[in-house]
Amino acid sequence: ARITLRQLLDHAAEKGYGVPAFNMSNMEQALAIMEAAHAVDAPVILQISRGARAYANDIMLKHMMDAVTEIYPRIPVCVHLDHGNEPGTCMTAIQSGFTSVMMDGSIMADGKTPGDWQYNVGVTKTVVDMAHLGGISVEGELGVLGSLETGMGDKEDGHGAEGPLSHDQLLTDPDEAVKFVAETKVDALAVAMGTSHGAYKFSRKPDGRVLAMNVIEEIHRKLPNTHLVMHGSSSVPKELQEIINKYGGDMKPTWGVPVEEVLRGIRNGVRKVNIDTDCRMAMTGQIRKVLTEDRSEFDPRKYLGPAMAALTKLCRQRFEEFGASGNA
Ligand code: G3H
Ligand code: 13P
Ligand code: NA
Ligand code: ZN
Repeated sequence: ARITLRQLLDHAAEKGYGVPAFNMSNMEQALAIMEAAHAVDAPVILQISRGARAYANDIMLKHMMDAVTEIYPRIPVCVHLDHGNEPGTCMTAIQSGFTSVMMDGSIMADGKTPGDWQYNVGVTKTVVDMAHLGGISVEGELGVLGSLETGMGDKEDGHGAEGPLSHDQLLTDPDEAVKFVAETKVDALAVAMGTSHGAYKFSRKPDGRVLAMNVIEEIHRKLPNTHLVMHGSSSVPKELQEIINKYGGDMKPTWGVPVEEVLRGIRNGVRKVNIDTDCRMAMTGQIRKVLTEDRSEFDPRKYLGPAMAALTKLCRQRFEEFGASGNA
């Protein structure tokens, strides 16, 4: 069944677990993520970016979402727009059957310039007012994602600010978070505490100087009833880096967000945990392996099948680690 983000996260808050939000843009990812949710009896957030919509076509995505809810009728599915950059993008997502949208006003529509307070509150409130009329949930974001090590926004993915940014911009201010939620009435709030998108988040295992989980604790103390969202939450596992590099890939040494830090967030109000990079790495590792080990292979199912299996395994693991399993 399709449900909204609000319904899903209210349940997660009541039971104290976190829900991974996995990005997807094709049939293989949709099926693999759903298979994992089914295997561990977890509710799921299928998260679709603007880039994914451009890649797969809204009509294709709409029918794929209908298909997965028909294949897995018992699994609650929230279909969420990741990083909407303007109200119109959010409205067309709703028209395509999304049950939740993110209006990311922390960045202007150009994806480069940090949005100031007036802009962010304005666009977010516009989307909330419209979406709530139709029972659709809204995620907002306060604070700019980017590295505390370098001050750079995460522009490698095309929707982060140009650096250098100050610590003030890179860390969500808890008092501003209280005002932001009161003024916009968002259903969930994404906050910034040192994570960034993509594989290259930290140059070594992150400590409290570069991954400020204390900011989340303080926000949760001031906003105990607000569902918090962590973006850039891939852990970029060493094993997946090694598989990719063993079979001809070239990933530079890097660190992501350790799962234990995500769990610290979940103990402090984090209910939605965004994961894309780990999923991409899980699939790519297997595709490289199959094509390297049998250079005569050319049936896409022979490499996409193992890629799906690896994605299912990763998703299962995250559902279990975050306590979402058994909650469908
Ligand atoms: O927010 C970032 C997600 O990883 C989506 O990435 O815009 O390349 O689809 P994308
Ligand atoms: P990762 O790049 O860490 O997977 O983050 C994804 C994300 O935040 C999508 O909004
Ligand atoms: Na999002
Ligand atoms: Zn994000």
